[in-house]
Amino acid sequence: MTMALNRGFALTWLGHNTFKLVTRGGRTVVIDPWIEGNPACPKELKTFEKIDVMTISHGHGDHMGDAVTLGKKFKPVVICNFEIHAFLQRKGLTTSSPMNKGGTQEAVGLKFTMVHATHSSGIEDGGQTIYGGEPCGFVITLEDGTRIYHAGDTAVHSDMALIGELYPPDVALLPIGDHYTMSPREAAVAARLLRPKVIVPAHYGTFPVLTGTPDMLREELKKQKVTAELVVLRPGETLS
Ligand code: NI
Ligand code: MN
Repeated sequence: MTMALNRGFALTWLGHNTFKLVTRGGRTVVIDPWIEGNPACPKELKTFEKIDVMTISHGHGDHMGDAVTLGKKFKPVVICNFEIHAFLQRKGLTTSSPMNKGGTQEAVGLKFTMVHATHSSGIEDGGQTIYGGEPCGFVITLEDGTRIYHAGDTAVHSDMALIGELYPPDVALLPIGDHYTMSPREAAVAARLLRPKVIVPAHYGTFPVLTGTPDMLREELKKQKVTAELVVLRPGETLS
């Protein structure tokens, strides 16, 4: 733990696009809670001691499949768009705190800025697809000012230059799997626009269709002269 906190936080990849962040102040944030059905999430990491905050990037099951269960159990502040907030309320969850893109809200001493993502956000429920508002990413600003950008599911988009200007990220968590999100080539362009210190690839390897790999990303970063540090985690590993 001490090692992991050298960066001021411990960020564990739970596979796919799900992360657990423990801050220097001892706060636990779960990003895109997909745990039970997540084939990449190590079994021993499927239980939590506590969750202070959950962020939800969009309405797809592989990003919020466990939001209701974990939300009711741990009563975290659930930060999401208004439509997902309304859905969670209908499911009996009382602790969500909606917002929209461009805004920042504070929760348990951390700041959460909702930023743009290019994707879709329908919620599958009882054989129907419910409108889930707009997909998004989050910039999380920690107690010491460190910024972690979770891009959510997204194509590369030019607003990433604005995110880089307004909230220069220390760490960028970028999808690279292709097919449903950007590919390694696009992720390298994203990194060029964002100029993070560290890149952690995600949303790859979970299913055969997600063909992007960290090696492909490394190659593209080199081609595009991006000098950020690439940190490749295995599911269950912690950025340290
Ligand atoms: Ni998605
Ligand atoms: Mn996804």
